[in-house]
Amino acid sequence: MQDRVIIMEGESRITVQQIQAKKTCNEKIIMLTAYSYPVAALLDKAGVDIILVGDSLANVALGLKSTKEVGMQEMIHHASAVGRAVKNALLVGDMPFDAYQNTDKSTALINAKRFIEEAGCGAVKVEWFDNCLDIIANLVENGIEVMGHIGLTPQTVERLGGFKVQGKDAASAAQLIRSAKALQESGCFCIVLECIPFQLAELITNAVSIPTIGIGAGAYCDGQVLVTDDMLGLYCDRLPRFVKRYACLERVILDAVSKFQQEVNDGNFPDGAHSYSMAEEEIEKIKKEML
Ligand code: KIV
Repeated sequence: MQDRVIIMEGESRITVQQIQAKKTCNEKIIMLTAYSYPVAALLDKAGVDIILVGDSLANVALGLKSTKEVGMQEMIHHASAVGRAVKNALLVGDMPFDAYQNTDKSTALINAKRFIEEAGCGAVKVEWFDNCLDIIANLVENGIEVMGHIGLTPQTVERLGGFKVQGKDAASAAQLIRSAKALQESGCFCIVLECIPFQLAELITNAVSIPTIGIGAGAYCDGQVLVTDDMLGLYCDRLPRFVKRYACLERVILDAVSKFQQEVNDGNFPDGAHSYSMAEEEIEKIKKEML
């Protein structure tokens, strides 16, 4: 039996009902990703509504090529670290491909329950695929809160013609509207809309009563999500057009590391303020005894 993330008495995290109430009150929902304890603690302190342990973990934190390369073991490991830090936000665990697209619905349920029971998540996220409605309905029937995800779904990107904007023509846009309605019917509490035209995102947002959270889906969604490492500018790779950099941590980190290297080489670090000392007579004693 693995250790579990225990939500301490007195801690109360945002609920899915509170997330849904934001749509009714016309308040935006703020969601960001985290894969580690310190980043999750900062996001939580900043007051974001939802922290997603995304399977973007694969590319962003583990240096893998595809999100399909992470499995339950890595996701639960990172979700548990994040879970130990989060006191206020709704914590959502992203189901990795093999945990639900490559298995039967009872195994998918076992995997979803691990996010809730071992990592302390309040919900799981699943991407759209052919059989997703059946899987989702089974999760919901068993008391799991589910966030849907449509548009550019990286786990099935080969079937979508690569990493490109989805739903640009009337036929594919209509299909995405139908998918959003079907996710609502299956019991999802909200839906991520990834990389679709802003006009379509607005149509979907108005067509469903559950909140939509956009990433590359324009301003007319009920909330917005970005990958935290992207928006903090932790690396200067080419990023998709929809990412806005709110900081340049790459510069901050490179500057700090080069200053450290310089000071060590120059003998300026560590100085007295960053060292421990012992009494002179103790030094004398030891010198007499040992040298
Ligand atoms: O894995 C992830 O980080 C995601 C978000 C981009 C929505 O799915």
